[in-house]
Amino acid sequence: MKINMDIIKCKDEDEIGRRAASLVAETIHREPHCILGLATGSTPVGMYKNLVKLYEQGTLDFSKVRSFNLDEYYPIQPEDPQSYRYFMNENLFDHINIDPANTYVPHGNSENPEMVCEAYDLMIQAAGGIDLQVLGIGNNGHIAFNEPSDHFPAGTHVVDLQESTIKANARFFDSEQDVPRQAISMGIGSILRAKRIILLASGEAKAEAVKACIEGPITPLCPASALQLHPDVTVFVDEAAAKLLSK
Ligand code: F6R
Repeated sequence: MKINMDIIKCKDEDEIGRRAASLVAETIHREPHCILGLATGSTPVGMYKNLVKLYEQGTLDFSKVRSFNLDEYYPIQPEDPQSYRYFMNENLFDHINIDPANTYVPHGNSENPEMVCEAYDLMIQAAGGIDLQVLGIGNNGHIAFNEPSDHFPAGTHVVDLQESTIKANARFFDSEQDVPRQAISMGIGSILRAKRIILLASGEAKAEAVKACIEGPITPLCPASALQLHPDVTVFVDEAAAKLLSK
């Protein structure tokens, strides 16, 4: 089978964090005005730590970088510690010299989320599009909050979270009841418009989703399989997440 994506097998999560951060850093060195697409969740935390380290060492300058996050819970206040805005401030933005006005996360507290979605796609387009999109992958093959379904959503949209995602994300909340039931998420179309994509996956729980994403049929039942349609995807996987891959 011909595999379109560049697969980088890493020993563990630490190596994924280091190597993904150096790829992001190379992009910023090459294009100081670049637009980054960013993800939350456990997977990119190591990458963010390494980016902060490079900034502290004086080798990385974020002053001209702009960023768009993939998603945000709905409804949620930005100052809520469970919000993705809060997560990004805590894990990256508060520790580097990015201009906070240049960091975009969908507003989870608007009374008109549909308008937030429409405006978000227009802002990405007006900024010139995403140069490098960072993705994690859900155990069910979701990317951003594009859940398995009968179609690939095109643009940023409001999503009803699936039971499996609510359960998987409950670990960050006091209880499963506290997990918001909806989210605002970039669509598969928005993600595929990025010039370059990196997907990070670690741990055995991701092994089936990683296999379906890379080697399975292109189907909205595994939203990440749409990445096979993109010409420039690099996947960083650790041994556990790669264990079902044929090569
Ligand atoms: C988060 C996001 C999600 C996560 C995915 C994996 O912005 O878009 O698709 O990437 O749920 O989450 P972790 O890394 O916590 O396993």
